[in-house]
Amino acid sequence: MRKPQSLRAQLLSRLTLPLLVVVILDASVSYFVALHYADQAYDSWLLDSAKSLAQQVKAQKDKVTFELPPIAVEVFRWDAMDKTFFKVESEAAGFIAGDKGLPSPMLATMANNEPFFSDGEIQGQTVRIVSVLTAPTADDTDDVLISVAETLKKRRSMMNEILLAVVLPQLLLVLITGFHIWTGINRGLGPLNDLAKLIAQRSARDLNPISDAGVPLEVRSLTHTINALLDRLGANLKTQQRFIENAAHQLRTPLAGLKVQAERALLADNLETMKPALAHIKNSADRVAHLSTQLLVLARSESVSHSVQVFESIDLVGSARSCCMDWVPKALERNIELGFDAPTAAVRVVGDEALLRELLSNLLDNANCYGNPGGHISVKIEPSLEPRLIVEDDGPGIQANEADRIFERFYRIPGSRGEGCGLGLAIVKEIADLHAAQINVSSGPRGRGTRIEIVFGSCL
Ligand SMILES: Nc1ncnc2c1ncn2[C@@H]1O[C@H](COP(=O)(O)OP(=O)(O)OP(=O)(O)O)[C@@H](O)[C@H]1O
Ligand SMILES: [Mg+2]
Repeated sequence: MRKPQSLRAQLLSRLTLPLLVVVILDASVSYFVALHYADQAYDSWLLDSAKSLAQQVKAQKDKVTFELPPIAVEVFRWDAMDKTFFKVESEAAGFIAGDKGLPSPMLATMANNEPFFSDGEIQGQTVRIVSVLTAPTADDTDDVLISVAETLKKRRSMMNEILLAVVLPQLLLVLITGFHIWTGINRGLGPLNDLAKLIAQRSARDLNPISDAGVPLEVRSLTHTINALLDRLGANLKTQQRFIENAAHQLRTPLAGLKVQAERALLADNLETMKPALAHIKNSADRVAHLSTQLLVLARSESVSHSVQVFESIDLVGSARSCCMDWVPKALERNIELGFDAPTAAVRVVGDEALLRELLSNLLDNANCYGNPGGHISVKIEPSLEPRLIVEDDGPGIQANEADRIFERFYRIPGSRGEGCGLGLAIVKEIADLHAAQINVSSGPRGRGTRIEIVFGSCL
């Protein structure tokens, strides 16, 4: 089984994660943009230094000189954090002044005498270098290359400062927003907890609808569904109550008869006078037994309809034939001819075989009970995409205005013969519904008697 997921955790992660991604992206972009401009500012200072050194390059009688007093060099090199290096050189004269170890750029890479920025290393320290070319005289072809380099301490400390300045506020933003989302979710889920408490406190007998007051719109569909369920439960409970009252009433009549006849039998002093009372006792016992059988069948078909149905493919012909065989002796008792008309091949329907036998048995019971003595009962099976089971008799038939009521529980048409309890057709309906089958009631052949047709759904 899947572990139930917390709605609170889901909402929090779905709201906070995208925010976190946006904040990280935003922080990265801001950091790199700020870094780029800071780098550019430092590069431009470095370039200014190189240009100021270029001012000191002079040409004297075809010789390039670089004159900077030591005190000026000291001033030039001074920096509170970083170390500064420089180098003056030319192709013809080679190294002229400065720090010999400073790496020089390839002259070919310096297009159009533009300043050239590069990264290098001197005395084991990484440095940022800018190189500029200067021509001491207008006609001189021997350009002088001036490189100025600086260690990266200032830049690195600036990097850290930018990082702190950008990331800290964003982190705070995520924390504050996360906190607000968390409290918002808790507040939003509050009505759900209240609703759960309200339902938990209810008594099992209280089927009144849950009040919508204070329930947010989104949760109302849930309360409406629960209310609809409570409604159905209430209706179901009422039906059950009525059923129990009816069953008790039905049982009371034969049981009262049993008691009276037993008292009569006790008063009799010989077997002959006792016999009529004993016959009544047997009759009442038969009625009680029949009623309890019918109640059990009804309860069974109801329990199947409320549980997960495990129907299987069954042969309607085989099971109907064996059911009819069981009824032959009872039909003979009333001198009724019982006919069976079905194809030789199996006709398959999906269902519960025991319940389908109960269905046919109740239809045969009625046809046999209400049919005329010496009459005819016919059981037919018509194979088709929607197989049909038909029971016909040539008895008194059922009036059209009674056609609906006969399926009600405990309903008997006034004046009906026999001692039925009015459950047979209710059982037939319950089982047919369970199999999604349709029941058609009409007159028998030549407009006489009763024809009851059960139409099963497609088995394909
Ligand atoms: N084949 C039929 N011919 C004439 N009337 C019928 C026929 N089948 C049912 N009925 C009428 O419908 C009523 C309801 O039938 P149902 O089978 O539900 O109850 P029952 O036969 O009286 O009792 P139970 O079947 O529980 O013993 C019967 O009382 C009877 O009047
Ligand atoms: Mg019946």
